[in-house]
Amino acid sequence: MAHHSEVVLITGGASGLGKATGQYLASRGYRVYGTARSPEKYPGFDLFPLLQMDVRQSSSVEAAIAELIGREGRVDILINNAGVGITGPIEETPGEAVGDAFETNFHGPLRVIRAVLPHMRQHRKGFILNITSVAGYMGLPYRGFYSASKGALGIITEAYRMEIREFGIRMANLAPGDFATNIAAGRYHCPMLQGSPYREPYGRTLDLMDQHVASGKDPVVLARKVYQILQQRHPKVHYTAGSFLQRLSLVLKKILPDKIYERLLLNHYKL
Ligand SMILES: NC(=O)c1ccc[n+]([C@@H]2O[C@H](COP(=O)([O-])OP(=O)(O)OC[C@H]3O[C@@H](n4cnc5c(N)ncnc54)[C@H](OP(=O)(O)O)[C@@H]3O)[C@@H](O)[C@H]2O)c1
Repeated sequence: MAHHSEVVLITGGASGLGKATGQYLASRGYRVYGTARSPEKYPGFDLFPLLQMDVRQSSSVEAAIAELIGREGRVDILINNAGVGITGPIEETPGEAVGDAFETNFHGPLRVIRAVLPHMRQHRKGFILNITSVAGYMGLPYRGFYSASKGALGIITEAYRMEIREFGIRMANLAPGDFATNIAAGRYHCPMLQGSPYREPYGRTLDLMDQHVASGKDPVVLARKVYQILQQRHPKVHYTAGSFLQRLSLVLKKILPDKIYERLLLNHYKL
C-alpha cells in the first residue's frame, strides 16, 4: 500500500463526508486532523484528533491552525469540507439565516485558506480542496442560497488557484452529488409561513430533497475520489462525485440551451 505522511486538515471531520474522508486518508498513512465546533460532542471519537474550530470566527480558525502547526510544524493538505444546508423560498428567507450560511459555506473556507497559506508557502507545497456541491453549478429552486454560497466558493477557487500557483500550491473543487449523511439534520429550514404562496411547492421540493439525500451514495465513494485527486500533480479545477445522473446533469448544463435545462429542472422538481 502506498504510504503518505503528509499532514491533512479536514474541517468538519467528525461526521459525514469529512469523517469518511479522514478515515480513508488515515488508512493510507496520511496524518489526519479533523475539526468540530464542539469536539466534546463526539466522545469516543478516536479515528484521528479533532481540533476545535468554528469557521465563522477568525479567532477560532487561527487558534486551531496555530495548534496544528504547534503539533506538526506543517500543514500539507487542507480539505475545506465544513458546510451547512439552507432551504426556503428566497423571498421569505430571513437575512440572518442567509448571512450565516454564507459565513459557513463561503467566508469560512476562505478564512481557513488564509490561515494555512503562509505555512504552505513556507514549504512551497500544499493542496487545498474545497468541497462545493453539484447544487453550486446551477440555481436550484428552494435552495437558492445554498446554490449561491457553493457556486461562489467554486468561482473563487477558479480565481484563487491562479494566484497561488506560483507558490507551488494547488487548489481544486470537488462537488458532491447526494451522499447519505446527516446533512439534512443540520440544515436551516426556512419556516413554512401560514398563508405563504410558496407553501405547497416548497413542501413538495423539501420532500424530494430529503429522499435524494437518504438514497444518496456511500460517503466512502467521495473519500476515494478525494484520495485520487490528492495524487494529481496538476489537478483540474472542477471534480464531481456522485450518481451517474448527477454527474450527467453538469454535462447537460454545459451543452443544453438554458431554456431546455430549466425545463428539465422544473420537471424534476415537479414545479
Ligand atoms: N451529503 C450530501 O449529499 C452533500 C452534497 C453536496 C455537498 N455536500 C457538502 O459536503 C460537506 C460535508 O457535508 P456532510 O454531508 O458530511 O454533512 P454533515 O455531516 O452535516 O457535515 C457538515 C460538517 O460541517 C461542520 N460545520 C458546520 N458548520 C460549521 C462551522 N460554522 N464551523 C465549522 N464546522 C462546521 C460540522 O461540524 P460540527 O457540527 O461537528 O461542528 C460537520 O462536521 C458540506 O460542505 C456539504 O455542503 C454534501
